[in-house]
Amino acid sequence: MPEMEKFLTKHIDVPGIDTLDVYRQYGGYEALAKALREYQPDQLIEEVKKSGLRGRGGAGFPTGMKWSFLAKNDKPRYLCCNCDESEPGTFKDRMLMEKIPHLLVEGVLITSYACRISTAFIYIRGELALAARQVERAVKEAYEAGLIGKNILGSDFSVDIIVHRGAGAYICGEESALMESLEGKRGYPRLKPPFPAAVGLYGGPTVINNCETLCTVPAIIRHGADYYASFGTEKSKGTRIFCLSGHVKKPGNYELPLGIPMRTLIYDEQYGGGVLGDKAVKAIIPGGSSTFFLGPDKLDTPLDYESIAAAGSMLGSGGVIVLNEDTCIVGAILRAVEFYRDESCGKCTPCREGTFWLTQILERLEHGEGKMKDIDLLTDICSNISGKSFCPLGDAATSLITSGVRLFREEFEYHVKHGHCMVSSQPALV
Ligand SMILES: Cc1cc2nc3c(=O)[nH]c(=O)nc-3n(C[C@H](O)[C@H](O)[C@H](O)COP(=O)(O)O)c2cc1C
Ligand code: SF4
Repeated sequence: MPEMEKFLTKHIDVPGIDTLDVYRQYGGYEALAKALREYQPDQLIEEVKKSGLRGRGGAGFPTGMKWSFLAKNDKPRYLCCNCDESEPGTFKDRMLMEKIPHLLVEGVLITSYACRISTAFIYIRGELALAARQVERAVKEAYEAGLIGKNILGSDFSVDIIVHRGAGAYICGEESALMESLEGKRGYPRLKPPFPAAVGLYGGPTVINNCETLCTVPAIIRHGADYYASFGTEKSKGTRIFCLSGHVKKPGNYELPLGIPMRTLIYDEQYGGGVLGDKAVKAIIPGGSSTFFLGPDKLDTPLDYESIAAAGSMLGSGGVIVLNEDTCIVGAILRAVEFYRDESCGKCTPCREGTFWLTQILERLEHGEGKMKDIDLLTDICSNISGKSFCPLGDAATSLITSGVRLFREEFEYHVKHGHCMVSSQPALV
């Protein structure tokens, strides 16, 4: 295996790569041409299965397998590309859309061909205005060049791509709420099953994949599944973009093979360059604010799905947030839980009421008005939200509290005893 390969970001800083001409000069749309020329749709699905690609939106579900679950009936099939990126600490899809939008268009086209889909939607988070403009422009250019529309590149494959802008609700990143929103309804999650592959958008079998997931597809077809799978680990193959933020010297997006140790991402000069102020790490949130804290004893954990799960958290959306020793854990958790309270869609009681209660208690603790029993009350409320809510947003709201109390209970107790934080105050990070 070569030491390093970048499948998504190799050409991202080439001037003009956001235009069709320059994208093509760097091999753009060759994977689409190869897919149409050399593969039957089902063979493409097998190739993506062989690559080991897993969804980059959060759950890490195997992509090829998801495609193969599409119900075989006479209803129209749809593709929804999830570009709603709103998970705190995650900013990779935005970069891909802003800088290399044709990569996404090419991924959507190959996926549509593989899954026999003739209408694809790209659902973009409302606030990402530049990303939306870039994708809209790329779609227009590709239509004009005959890469989208009827009989693409002279084949019998035809597809339309529709760019849709959300209105800025975190819940609309959840796949079933995304479909409701696309259908023009309020973005409430749907009951599952049925899963989107059986009954999805407008009742048709639907594939929903994350932006980065679909941006990876052209590289797999271009280089072959075996080459892609030669990067990463046994079960977490390929590369992914880690969004590094928090108390690091060089925050940013870094595409690296899965399995790279967290310490390398944070400390290596090429990536994070170390902790701000050369302080010690207090905690790491490895996969966006919906995942559990890890302590500094886990710094050598490889960043792959299995190792991070074994360490007690999740790789999630790839947002690695570093908190140094000066961080007030209670304040950081309060900041995150306020987000979930504000973004709770209100459909189910445990999440709607619970996130509100959690923030009230955390505010008490943060401002020196909390009682010792509040600490256990927090975890008790979490146990009544997690696993008992209608969709995973409820579970997500509790991750930092349960892991925070487990790892840093003395900080909560200090707030109660002394009425303030045990460390000098840092701005909350999440
Ligand atoms: C509250 C919530 C928000 C989500 N937000 C996003 C998002 O912004 N982007 C995304 O790709 N997936 C998001 N997901 C995950 C999607 O439901 C879905 O699993 C994903 O788009 C599937 O794509 P993948 O298999 O390529 O990862 C979210 C899930 C939940 C519960
Ligand atoms: S868990 Fe929260 S976001 Fe999900 S349906 Fe219930 S209220 Fe809405």
